[in-house]
Amino acid sequence: MKAPRFRKEAAVFFFFFCLLAVCQTFPTPADRDTLMILEQFQFTGGNLLTTEKELQVNYILKKIKGKEIMEGMKTGKFAPAMHFFRAKELIEQSPVFNIIQMMPKGAGLHLHEYALLSVDWLVKNATYLPNCYICFTPVGGVRFHYFHRMQQRKMVNCSEWVLLEQYRRQIQNVTEFDNSLMRNLTLITENPEEAYQSQNIIWQRFSDAFAAASSLISYAPVFKTYFYEALKEFYHDNVQYIEIRALLLPVYELDGTLQNKTWSIMAYHEVARQFKDDHPDFMGTKVIFSVHRKSNNTEMKTAIYEAMELYNKFPETMAGFDMVGHEDAGHPLWYFRNELSIPAKLGVKLPYFFHAGETDWEGVHVDENILDALLLNTSRIGHGYSINKHLVAKQLSQKLDVALEVCPISNQVLMLVSNLQNHPAAALMAEGHPMVISADDPAVFGARGLSYDFYEAFMGIGGLKAELTTLRQLALNSINYSAMSAQMKVEAIKLWQKKWDQFLDAVVHMFNSDEL
Ligand SMILES: *[C@@H]1O[C@H](CO)[C@@H](O)[C@H](O)[C@H]1NC(C)=O
Ligand SMILES: *[C@@H]1O[C@H](CO)[C@@H](O)[C@H](O)[C@H]1NC(C)=O
Ligand SMILES: *[C@@H]1O[C@H](CO)[C@@H](O)[C@H](O)[C@H]1NC(C)=O
Ligand SMILES: *[C@@H]1O[C@H](CO)[C@@H](O)[C@H](O)[C@H]1NC(C)=O
Ligand SMILES: *[C@@H]1O[C@H](CO)[C@@H](O)[C@H](O)[C@H]1NC(C)=O
Ligand SMILES: *[C@@H]1O[C@H](CO)[C@@H](O)[C@H](O)[C@H]1NC(C)=O
Ligand SMILES: *[C@@H]1O[C@H](CO)[C@@H](O)[C@H](O)[C@H]1NC(C)=O
Ligand SMILES: *[C@@H]1O[C@H](CO)[C@@H](O)[C@H](O)[C@H]1NC(C)=O
Ligand SMILES: [Zn+2]
Repeated sequence: MKAPRFRKEAAVFFFFFCLLAVCQTFPTPADRDTLMILEQFQFTGGNLLTTEKELQVNYILKKIKGKEIMEGMKTGKFAPAMHFFRAKELIEQSPVFNIIQMMPKGAGLHLHEYALLSVDWLVKNATYLPNCYICFTPVGGVRFHYFHRMQQRKMVNCSEWVLLEQYRRQIQNVTEFDNSLMRNLTLITENPEEAYQSQNIIWQRFSDAFAAASSLISYAPVFKTYFYEALKEFYHDNVQYIEIRALLLPVYELDGTLQNKTWSIMAYHEVARQFKDDHPDFMGTKVIFSVHRKSNNTEMKTAIYEAMELYNKFPETMAGFDMVGHEDAGHPLWYFRNELSIPAKLGVKLPYFFHAGETDWEGVHVDENILDALLLNTSRIGHGYSINKHLVAKQLSQKLDVALEVCPISNQVLMLVSNLQNHPAAALMAEGHPMVISADDPAVFGARGLSYDFYEAFMGIGGLKAELTTLRQLALNSINYSAMSAQMKVEAIKLWQKKWDQFLDAVVHMFNSDEL
C-alpha cells in the first residue's frame, strides 16, 4: 500500500506556510496533532491500514512495550542500550520478545552459510561423529577435519591431527572442553569491550570462528544436516524463507573427494526441498553466491562467469552475487567495476546484493561502496549502515526502492555502534526508508533466528514510535524485497497472512487486556 504522498506533502507545506507567514499565533493542540500524525504516517508501517483485530493487538503490544521501555528508563537497564552478550538474558525474559518470537517474520534476507545454526549442534553432534579430528592453532584456535587415518595431511599453522574421540577420553572435563569449542565458534565473551579493543581485532576472531565452523560444515554429511537443522531453527523462530550468502567452498567427502560449486548448490536445493516436504508451510531458500572482497581482479572475473553460469543453470536456487569479508580491509566495489560490469555488457542477468556501507569511516574509499552498489544496479544493500552520511545514495535507494538489510546485533557486536537506540536505521525508520531486518551471523553472536534482531529493531531502533504496523511492514518488506519470483511472492504473502491472523488470535488469547 503506497501512501498518498502528494497530500502529505501538501499538508506539510500548508502547515509551515501557516506557521511562518499567516497564522503567527501560539501553537494549538490541533497543530501539534497534525505534526505528530505526519511523523507517524511517514514512519515504517505508519500508513498501513489496520483491522479491528490488529488494533486490539496493538493496544496490548503498546502497553507491554511501554511498560518495558519505561522500566528501562527508570533502572537504566535497557537491553538495546546494552551489549547483546549482556542483554540476551534480559531479552529472553521480555514479553515483547515472546510476542516477536510468535510473530511470522517473513524472510531472513541477510545471512551467511556458516553461521546460521546455534553452535550447540556443531559441537554436541557434528564433532561427535566418527572420524572427526581436531588440530590447535598457535593463536588458541581450532580446526576440524573428518578423514580416514591413512589420509591425514598436516594442516599449515596447526598442530598434528588428534582424533576427537580419543582426545575426549584423555581429558578430565569433557563439558569444559566442549564449552571451549563453542567459544571458538562464537564471539561470545563476558567482557567484550576488553576482549575486542578494535574492529580489526574482532574481525580477526570473527574470521577464525568462521574458519573453525567451515572446517566442520564442509564435510558433506555435516553440510547437509547442518543446513537442514538451520532451516528448522529458522522455521521454529517463525521465519518462512531465507536467502543465504554462500562462498560455495569445496565440500569434502570422507575419502578426500572434493565437490564443486554445482554440488553445493544442488545440495542446498535438495535439503530445502526435503525440508519443505516435511514442513509444507515453509517457503524455501535461495543462495547468493559470494566471494571474498580481498580477491584480485582475475579471481573476480572467474567468479562472475561462474555466477552467471550457476544463475542460468539453477534459477530456482540462485538469487545472485555478492562480496563478503571485512569491508574496511577489502577492495572497494569500484576496484572491480570492470568485472562487475561483465553481465550487463553481455546482456546476461545476474542480480547483485552487495554488502555496502558497513563502516564508520566516512569518506575513505570503501565508504563510497554504498553509492557504487547503486551504480552497479544492486537489488538490495547489505547493511547500508553509513547511508545517512550519503544524501544522494539515500535518495537514490529510496527512489529505486532498493532496500537496506539492517542487522542490528551484528552492527553492535562488530563495533559500529554500541547503543542500538543510536543505530542509523532509527532515522531511516522515521522516514519509512525501504528496509528489512536480518541477523547476519546469528550463530556467531549467540542469537537464534531473527527474533533477537527484530526485538532490537522494534524496541531500540524504533523506540516507542514503532507499533504493530511497523512489525507488519518489516515482515511484508522481507517478502517483497526477496529474490522470490512474483508468483512465489504471492504465495508467500498468502501463507504469511494466514500465519499473521493466527498470530493475532494467539496474542489476544494470551494477554487478557483487562489485566494490563
Ligand atoms: C512491494 O514493493 C512494491 C515496489 O517494489 C511496492 O509498490 C509495494 O507497495 C510493496 N508492497 C508492500 C506490501 O510493501
Ligand atoms: C544431537 O545429539 C543429541 C545427543 O546425542 C541427540 O539427542 C540429538 O537427536 C542429535 N540431534 C540431531 C539433529 O542429530
Ligand atoms: C601461517 O602463519 C604465518 C605466521 O603467522 C603467516 O604468515 C602465514 O600466512 C600462515 N599461513 C597460512 C597458510 O595460513
Ligand atoms: C566440568 O566443567 C564444567 C563447566 O566448566 C563444570 O560446571 C563442572 O563442574 C566440571 N566438572 C568437573 C567434574 O570438574
Ligand atoms: C578454543 O579451544 C581451545 C581448545 O580447547 C582452547 O584452548 C581455546 O581457549 C578456545 N578458544 C576460545 C576463544 O575460547
Ligand atoms: C561438478 O561435479 C559434478 C559431479 O558431482 C560433475 O558432474 C560436474 O561436471 C562438475 N562440474 C564442473 C563445472 O566441474
Ligand atoms: C590472483 O590470485 C591468484 C591466486 O588465487 C594468483 O594465482 C594470480 O596470480 C593473482 N593474479 C593477479 C593479477 O594478481
Ligand atoms: C538491474 O537489475 C535488475 C534486477 O536483477 C535487472 O532486471 C536489470 O536488467 C538490471 N539492469 C542492468 C542495466 O543491468
Ligand atoms: Zn553480512
